[in-house]
Amino acid sequence: MQVFAALIISYLLGSISFSFLAGKLLKGIDIRKHGSGNAGATNTLRILGKGPAIAVLALDVIKGIAAVWIGRWLGGENDWVPVWAGLSVIAGHNWPVYFGFKGGKGIATAIGVTATLCFLPALFAGIIAIGSIFITRYVSLGSLIFTGLLPISIWIMGEPLPVLIGSLLIAVFSFVRHRTNIMKLIRGQENKLGSKR
Ligand code: G3P
Repeated sequence: MQVFAALIISYLLGSISFSFLAGKLLKGIDIRKHGSGNAGATNTLRILGKGPAIAVLALDVIKGIAAVWIGRWLGGENDWVPVWAGLSVIAGHNWPVYFGFKGGKGIATAIGVTATLCFLPALFAGIIAIGSIFITRYVSLGSLIFTGLLPISIWIMGEPLPVLIGSLLIAVFSFVRHRTNIMKLIRGQENKLGSKR
């Protein structure tokens, strides 16, 4: 019962789309109809600017941190519950129940989840991802590098099996949600950081 509660609470928490709320509150727009159409921090930067984007990024990361802590609290000794709670909060972010199941790509929330579950592997993958964004100016490529590197760094650093399985599922979520970005990257048509599309 407590496990079920952790999953539901995390999913409902993840479903709070801060980029959507920022768009509505600051400009009266649906951010999903502007820029890349994604309800996330990168598109918030394009459409609303730096301040709102930093706030959305921070709140989305905090959602991930909070869900893992809820999983730890409700799961007790069960190491799987924080991982399932982390996946649920990302699922809520990507497919939010309050906003017609059309949300973001889950990267900021995954940062919060993985930094709480396994700090060092997340830090390692994060440094490489940020470096790749600085060099290429493709946030989507950095996001894919982050989620793709996570299972490898988790495996190399000997993190527990639930965390490894969770990171593999996070990578699957991320690659599924970035399908359009991947096609655009291959065609050389992906938006660069700072571009307004
Ligand atoms: O985390 C989302 C980012 O990887 C891509 O966002 O808006 O460029 O599709 P966007």
